[in-house]
Amino acid sequence: MSHARITIDRDFSIADVPRRLFGQFVEHMGRCVYTGIYEPGHPAADARGFRTDVLELVRELGPTVVRYPGGNFVSGYRWEDGVGPVADRPVRIDGAWHTIETNAFGLHEFMDWSREAEVEVMEAINLGTRGVEEARALVEYANHPGGTYWSDLRRRNGAEDPFDIKLWCLGNELDGPWQIGHKTAHEYGRLAQETAKAMKLVDPTIELVAVGSSSRQMPTFGTWEHTVLTHAYDEVDYVSMHAYYQEHDGDVASFLGDAVDMDAFIDGVVATIDAVKAAGKHTRQVDISFDEWNVWYQSGLDSEDQPHQVEKAWREHPRLIEDAYNVTDAVVVGTFLHSLLRHGDRVKIANQAQLVNVIAPIRSEEGGPAWRQTIFWPFARMARMAQGRILRLAVSSTKTPTTRHGDVDDVDAVATWDEESGRLALFVANRSLDGEATVDLDLYGLRATAVRSAEVLTVPEDGDRLTANLVGAPDAVGLRPLDGVALDDGAVRLTLPALSWSAVEFDVARS
Ligand code: AHR
Repeated sequence: MSHARITIDRDFSIADVPRRLFGQFVEHMGRCVYTGIYEPGHPAADARGFRTDVLELVRELGPTVVRYPGGNFVSGYRWEDGVGPVADRPVRIDGAWHTIETNAFGLHEFMDWSREAEVEVMEAINLGTRGVEEARALVEYANHPGGTYWSDLRRRNGAEDPFDIKLWCLGNELDGPWQIGHKTAHEYGRLAQETAKAMKLVDPTIELVAVGSSSRQMPTFGTWEHTVLTHAYDEVDYVSMHAYYQEHDGDVASFLGDAVDMDAFIDGVVATIDAVKAAGKHTRQVDISFDEWNVWYQSGLDSEDQPHQVEKAWREHPRLIEDAYNVTDAVVVGTFLHSLLRHGDRVKIANQAQLVNVIAPIRSEEGGPAWRQTIFWPFARMARMAQGRILRLAVSSTKTPTTRHGDVDDVDAVATWDEESGRLALFVANRSLDGEATVDLDLYGLRATAVRSAEVLTVPEDGDRLTANLVGAPDAVGLRPLDGVALDDGAVRLTLPALSWSAVEFDVARS
């Protein structure tokens, strides 16, 4: 049996909830775009080819912002190929994913889709094979009202009003040797600085994300951020982070504790940003865009999933990395969202990678159904319920020893308080595989008056920790009512099932 005491004080808070933390990512990769969000001819497709069954699930998932169009894809992409009459668009080779790109879906289609999905657009530019000129042309095309070459081309292509895209990524993973146009930190830092300057001369209201490390394991992690920001600190607003995790060799305890690594990774990037800020005597603050994160089973991929096998035929939208997520993955994803939220003073944007089919919370089949993976649920609940202020929790928990992270708390939690609606939302994971956890909540400055809702995701009665939602059983794992919430004269005690993630919402009054 595990136990935790969580102390919450109304006056100890971290930041307002950055709503852009609940972002997703759509890349031209595998079946994310084609047969994912876009499939003309599907029974549920609208007149523009958007799958309305997928759109409904996206709205239910509730992302606030979606990064597009890549990913590794963007480092070889010509954005001009994806605008204008579809019949005139060139068919190209995408070297990043060994795929034929028809360009049937491009910028205008994505803008239309994002309006339907009710999300903000975060546009990535190609700084792999391209540079300053193509980047400033794209900003002019997207954001300038009219009367100039590129803005008038947009209008002729059917969009009279500017797209007004505020968030832009200055390339993707250019620290990685696999990236088309891979660069040293000096090369990228100068390019990012000059590209950012030119883009902001076209539209000074935009916000720019410089490429950070592709993972904490990169040999250049730390020095890359330091060098890039030494060049570009004054021109950029965010530096990116990417991280993917998986269960290695049956070491489930370490996997369940991987949010500890995510916390440390974020703390390291914050320290590096602030070191450059101090040394350069800068006054403005650069924050973090954690614009790719998820569980991704990178080792143990079957041969179908290896994108760089040149002997494979060039194909349109092949099946790539369509991981089926289980109960354990969903609990881990819940704790990653906790990590992002408790760093909400510095992590202002985050994008789970990717939205549909490709390591995704939503799956779809060509001509067939769409459904929710297990990892859909923590994201959907936190995107809706995390409102107002992020509270600073003091958690004192029993611990489990792990190989990779030392002793890890059995109970991991984060909370938000929305003064306007009078709601306190508590998100809490029990990482223990073999026992319930009891959690006592000590509230200071707030008094819980009612439990509004309490739901839990855990191992289903007829399943185990590896149970997943598959096409034949799409609802095997979901949320169910959490019975173990006791509220007695303001005192709160939760009883959480083994291996579970819960979302509990209280009505609270100031006390
Ligand atoms: O999300 C899948 C891939 O992971 C992205 O294309 C790339 O940026 C990262 O390595």
